[in-house]
Amino acid sequence: MPPGIAVLLESAEAERRVAATPETVRKLIALGARVAVERGAGERAGIADGDYEQAGATVADRAGVLAGADIVLAVQAPEPATLAGMAPGGWVVAAFDPVRRRETVAGYAAAGLEALAMDWMPRITRAQSMDILSSQSNLAGYKAVLEAASAYGRAFPMMMTAAGTIPAARAFVMGVGVAGLQAIATARRLGAQVSATDVRSATRDQIQSLGAKPIFVEGVAGIEGEGTGGYAGETSEEYRRAQAELVAGHIAKQDIVITTALIPGRPAPRLVTDAQIATMRPGSVIVDLAVEAGGNVEGAVAGEVVRRHGVTIVGHRNMPSLLAADASALFARNLYNFLAAFWDKDAGRPVLDAEIGDAIRLTKDGQVVNPRLSQ
Ligand code: NAI
Repeated sequence: MPPGIAVLLESAEAERRVAATPETVRKLIALGARVAVERGAGERAGIADGDYEQAGATVADRAGVLAGADIVLAVQAPEPATLAGMAPGGWVVAAFDPVRRRETVAGYAAAGLEALAMDWMPRITRAQSMDILSSQSNLAGYKAVLEAASAYGRAFPMMMTAAGTIPAARAFVMGVGVAGLQAIATARRLGAQVSATDVRSATRDQIQSLGAKPIFVEGVAGIEGEGTGGYAGETSEEYRRAQAELVAGHIAKQDIVITTALIPGRPAPRLVTDAQIATMRPGSVIVDLAVEAGGNVEGAVAGEVVRRHGVTIVGHRNMPSLLAADASALFARNLYNFLAAFWDKDAGRPVLDAEIGDAIRLTKDGQVVNPRLSQ
C-alpha cells in the first residue's frame, strides 16, 4: 500500500497557514503517496476542501486522516496527544521550535513518533529549496514594512504636491538576514530613505546593493558577530556598548524601525531601549519581528500593538500567517521539495541521508536523538 500522508488543520492560535496546497498534493500523489487532508485545513489560506479533493486528496476529520498515516505534514507541530492513530514510527514533518518546546519533543519520543524539525534544516546549498525559515522570513520582512506603513500617520515617499512637499520617511532595519533584506527592499519600493545595520560585515555590501545606507560599528577589534552556518553569534560587551552608542544617535532621527535580529538557540539581542524610544519623534513606528524570541525592543509585547512615548510598537506574532496564501504556498513547496528529494522509488517512501536526517530528526525509537537538544 502506498504511504499515507496526512495534512492537518492547524490548532495553534491565529495560525492561518496550511502545510500542503492542491499543487503539492498533486505532486505528492505523483510520487506515489496517498494524501488525506483534514476538513477545513486550507480554509484560512483561501483553499477549499473541494480544491484538495480535485487534486486527488481525500478530505476527512482528524481521526480519519490520521488512521494509519505514515507521514503527517503540519506548519506548527501539534501536541503528540492529538496524533493518536498514526502508524507506529510515523513521521511528523513541521516546524517544531525544538528548544522552546522540549516537553512537546519528549512527548513525540514517548509516542514512538519520528519528529522532523524543518526549522533545523541545515543551511547548505542543496537544502535551500527546503528551508522554511527563509521562505517565511522573506514574507515576514515584507509584511513588517506594510504593517509599519499602515500604523504610520504619514506617507513613506517624498511627495511634491500643489499643497506643499511631504518629506520621505526614514526607515532603519536592524538585522539584515532574510527578513531584513526583504524589509529593506520593500521600504525602498515604498519610497522611504532606508538605512540598516547587522553584526555580520558580509551584509554591508548587500545593504548597499539594495540602495540603503549601512550603519556599522567601526574600529572595535574582534567584534565580528559571525557565528556558524551564516548565522550571527553573540557579540562582545565592548561591541555591544559601541553598537548601542551608534544606534542611539541614529534612531533619534528615524520614523520607522524594523528589527529582525536573532541568534539561534539564544534569546533575541536587545537592540532598542526605552530611553532610545523616548528620543524618537511621536508618531514613529517600530516593528519587532523578534518579539516571539524575547524581542529586540524594550517594551514590545508579543501579540500586541503598544504605545511608548508616542511611538507605536508593533509586536505581531507570526507575521507570515498574515499572508497565509503565499506563506502556505511556499511552506508547502518546502515540504514537498524535502520529501521528493529523499523519495526512494524502491522503498516507496522517503529515506533520509545522514547530513540532513541527523540535523532535523529530533526523536526516533522512543528516544530524543538530536544532539542539539542534549546541550
Ligand atoms: P536570523 O533570522 O538568524 O537573524 C537575522 C539577522 O540578525 C542576521 O543577519 C543576524 O546577523 C542579525 N543579528 C543578530 N544579532 C544581531 C545584533 N546584535 N545586531 C544586529 N544584527 C544582529 O538570520 P537569517 O535571516 O536566518 O539569515 C542568516 C544568514 O543565513 C544570512 O546570511 C542568509 O543569507 C543565510 N542563509 C543561507 C541559506 C542557505 O545557504 N541555504 C538559507 C537561508 C539563509
